[in-house]
Amino acid sequence: MSFSIKDVTRKGLLLGVFLAAGLVAGCEQPPQESTQNGYRGTGMSQIRSPEKIERLLVANAIPEAQPPADASGDLASKAYQNVQVLGHLSEGQFLRVMTAITEWVAPEQGCGYCHNLENLADDSMYTKKVARRMLQMTTHINEDWKAHVGATGVTCYTCHRGNPVPENIWFKDPGHVARGSAADPGGQNYPALSTARSSLPRDPFSAMLLGNTEIRVASAQSLPTDAPGMTIQSTEMTYALMMHMSNGLGVNCTFCHNSRSFASWEESTPQRVTAWHGIRMARDINKEYLDPLKPVYPAHRLGPEGDAAKANCATCHQGVNKPLNGVSMLKDYLVELGRPKK
Ligand code: HEC
Ligand code: HEC
Ligand code: HEC
Ligand code: HEC
Repeated sequence: MSFSIKDVTRKGLLLGVFLAAGLVAGCEQPPQESTQNGYRGTGMSQIRSPEKIERLLVANAIPEAQPPADASGDLASKAYQNVQVLGHLSEGQFLRVMTAITEWVAPEQGCGYCHNLENLADDSMYTKKVARRMLQMTTHINEDWKAHVGATGVTCYTCHRGNPVPENIWFKDPGHVARGSAADPGGQNYPALSTARSSLPRDPFSAMLLGNTEIRVASAQSLPTDAPGMTIQSTEMTYALMMHMSNGLGVNCTFCHNSRSFASWEESTPQRVTAWHGIRMARDINKEYLDPLKPVYPAHRLGPEGDAAKANCATCHQGVNKPLNGVSMLKDYLVELGRPKK
């Protein structure tokens, strides 16, 4: 006999200690920081670990602004051959945007990511056509959605962070389907990253951030027949979207709601109003800008259902209640990414 009962016990003990250490290491270390977000006694607090705050600070550092450009000189529309969106800028301002978007969207690939380097006026690359629409979308967000983005605004970097394809995008996703079977999970019952590992419907976005499906669970009517659409399914969909919103902003439900009545606006925080506008803004940019880009993309950029990539709260927020911790990159690019003043 090479080992005794005692050996086995000792090995078991060691394994136990090892596993316990692993479990503790997987938790966030106390003390946690807590901030009150509602009146005293309502328990509307946000809890964050200092370690996580530190991690998010590092992840949200912003690149330095390009030096200011000469505003005099020829207009870009005159200096170049095929400028359809930024023609009102001076030549210097125009090249400043080109340098900035290269840094924000394709820093490794360079100008050639969007341009045929033999002829910069050529539109044969799909990336250039997409980028032109993105310029219009960014201006539209900054000028027409101040109710959500305020004066802070957005630049390409808010979503792209140095990646040609932003890290947080979504496609239509029907999930696991077994149509006609009693066991049909109907796009839910499997943990999904899109809804913070809940088993709620994995794609609340098609209905609620592209379509206009009402985001409600509480009916104002007594009978379900009086309130068509207030179904168990729409309730599950609402909660799925709420899980995404909380996760995308790195907050819990009480950042916006007093949980004694989720529906009541009187008891909600001002942030819930900002979020309400954010939902409308997401619908608008998905419907008017991102979804219609489908025919421009090559097939490998489309989702499993053949649609173009779209934005949700996480596309800009990336785990923080204010994207890039509320620092405005737009303030250095107001001329370039705002609308020309008459
Ligand atoms: C992310 C895509 C993208 C990158 C990267 C990019 N460009 Fe552009 N470029 C565009 C778009 C879009 C237009 C057309 C703008 C318009 O229609 O208003 C354009 C137009 C131009 C033009 C005008 C050409 C003409 O005659 O019509 C020049 C010059 C130019 N870019 C230079 C550059 C340089 C230099 C770089 C690298 C520092 C660069 N671009 C990187 C998207 C890009
Ligand atoms: C609201 C978020 C958002 C903003 C702001 C934004 N983009 Fe995009 N961008 C996207 C999404 C979503 C896609 C689709 C990803 C894909 O290509 O599959 C995309 C795709 C692109 C692509 C195509 C990349 C590829 O390889 O398919 C280019 C180029 C691009 N954006 C340039 C820009 C430029 C330039 C700006 C700023 C003027 C900008 N974007 C601002 C969300 C954004
Ligand atoms: C960033 C703000 C925000 C966060 C965080 C948030 N919500 Fe909401 N919630 C809203 C807004 C805005 C609406 C109304 C949407 C609309 O009408 O378009 C809403 C609606 C709801 C409704 C529907 C109420 C009704 O009228 O029937 C429920 C239920 C709800 N939220 C639950 C939750 C839960 C549970 C969480 C946490 C998992 C959560 N919310 C996190 C902003 C938020
Ligand atoms: C195009 C980028 C973009 C998208 C998409 C976006 N947001 Fe925002 N959001 C911002 C910016 C920028 C701010 C900061 C505004 C400011 O500084 O006043 C902000 C601020 C907020 C705030 C206020 C936070 C605070 O601490 O006061 C809430 C709440 C919010 N967003 C919720 C949402 C929700 C929910 C969604 C998805 C339905 C969403 N946002 C989608 C850019 C975006």
